Amino acid sequence: MKDILQELEDRRGQARLGGGTKRIEAQHAKGKLTARERIELLLDEDSFEEYDMFVTHRCTDFGMEGSKPRGDGVITGWGTINGRMVYVFSQDFTVLGGSVSETHAAKICKIMDMAMQNGAPVIGINDSGGARIQEGVSSLAAYGEVFQRNIEASGVVPQISMIMGPCAGGAVYSPAMTDFIFMVKDSSYMFVTGPDVVKTVTNEVVTAEELGGATTHTRKSSVADGAFENDVEALSEVRRLIDFLPLSNREKPPVRPFYDDPGRIEESLDTLIPDNPNKPYDMKELILKVADEGDFYEIQEDFAKNIITGFIRLEGQTVGVVANQPMVLAGVLDIDSARKAARFVRFCDCFEIPILTLV
Ligand code: HXC
Repeated sequence: MKDILQELEDRRGQARLGGGTKRIEAQHAKGKLTARERIELLLDEDSFEEYDMFVTHRCTDFGMEGSKPRGDGVITGWGTINGRMVYVFSQDFTVLGGSVSETHAAKICKIMDMAMQNGAPVIGINDSGGARIQEGVSSLAAYGEVFQRNIEASGVVPQISMIMGPCAGGAVYSPAMTDFIFMVKDSSYMFVTGPDVVKTVTNEVVTAEELGGATTHTRKSSVADGAFENDVEALSEVRRLIDFLPLSNREKPPVRPFYDDPGRIEESLDTLIPDNPNKPYDMKELILKVADEGDFYEIQEDFAKNIITGFIRLEGQTVGVVANQPMVLAGVLDIDSARKAARFVRFCDCFEIPILTLV
C-alpha cells in the first residue's frame, strides 16, 4: 500500500512539474507565471480541486509515444473566488507550447459541461500555440468540441478568457467567442499564427506586437476588452470582475454590502454638465460620482472612447452603464461605438443585469 501511495505522490510531483524546471525557468524569465501559479493567484487560497491530473495524450505519430507529460498541458478544475464557485482551465506553455491535443481538449470540455450543469462561470487561462500539430485532424476535431461548448454556454454562464502568452489558432478562436477577453501587455498575443509562420507563408515580416499584441486588440480590432501590466494584475482584476457578475443566467449578481448613503446629494453634478451644449465634459466623472464608493469596472476602455461601457453598483447591486462620452468625438455614435455598446448590452441582457444609460 505504501508503494502505491508513493507512486501516486511521484506522479503528482511529475504532473506539477509540467514541462520541467528548465521550461518553468524560461517561462519566469519572460515575466510570465506558470499555469499552476496563475490558478493559485486567481482562486481563493486552498480552494482549487483539480481533475484529470494524470491524463496523457494518445498520439503515436512523430515519436510522440516517447513523451507523455502528465496532465497533457492543461490544468483543469474548480475553485472559488470570494467564496463563489468558478470552473477554470489553465494551459501550460511548458508542455508542448500548451498546444491542444484530443485529450487536452477533452479535459477543457469536461469542466465546461460541469460549469453549464452546475451554473458557474468558466475562466480560461490561455497560453497555447493552438491545435497540436503532431495530432493533425484529431486536434482540430477536438477544438470543434470546445467551440461547440463555447456556443452552448453563451448566455448560460459567463465565459471569461485570459490571454497570458503567445496564443495562436484555436487558442484564439475559442476565446474570441467568450464574453470577456483580457490580455497582458508585452507578453500575450492573439493571432491566427505566429510571425515566423507568417514570414514563411507570405514572406511578410511583422512583429508579434503588430500582429496580435495587447495594443492591437484593445485599440484597433476590439477583440480584447482590456489589457493589464502583468499576470498578477490581470488575475486580480478578473477576481474583481467576477464579483460584479451572476454565476449563471439562473441567478442574480451578488448584492454587496455598501457604505454609500443612497440619499447622498452630489452637489458637483450641478456644475459638471455645462450650460453650453457645445462644451464637452467628462462623463466618466459623472459615472464615478453616481457609483457606490466610486467603483467602476470599465470594459473596452481603449476602444471607441466616444462611448463608455462597464459595471458599477448602486445600493450594492450590479448595474451596467452605457454612456456617451462628450469628451471624444462629441460623444457621437459611430460604427465602432455602436458595436461596443451592443456587445455589452447583449451580455447584460442575457444575465438580467439592469442598464443605466447616460445620454
Ligand atoms: C505543437 C507547438 C505548437 C503547436 C508551439 N509548439 N505551438 N507544438 N503544436 N501548435 C511548441 C514548439 O514547437 C516549441 O517546442 C514550444 O511549443 C514553444 O514554442 P516556440 O515556438 O519556441 O515559442 P515562441 O517563440 O514563444 O512562439 C510561440 C508561437 C509559435 C507563436 C505560438 O510556436 C507558433 O507560431 N506556433 C504555431 C502556431 C500555429 O500555427 N498554430 C495553429 C494551429 S492550427 P520545443 O520543443 O521546440 O521547445 C489551429 C486551428 C484550430 O489551432 C482550428 C480548429 C477547427
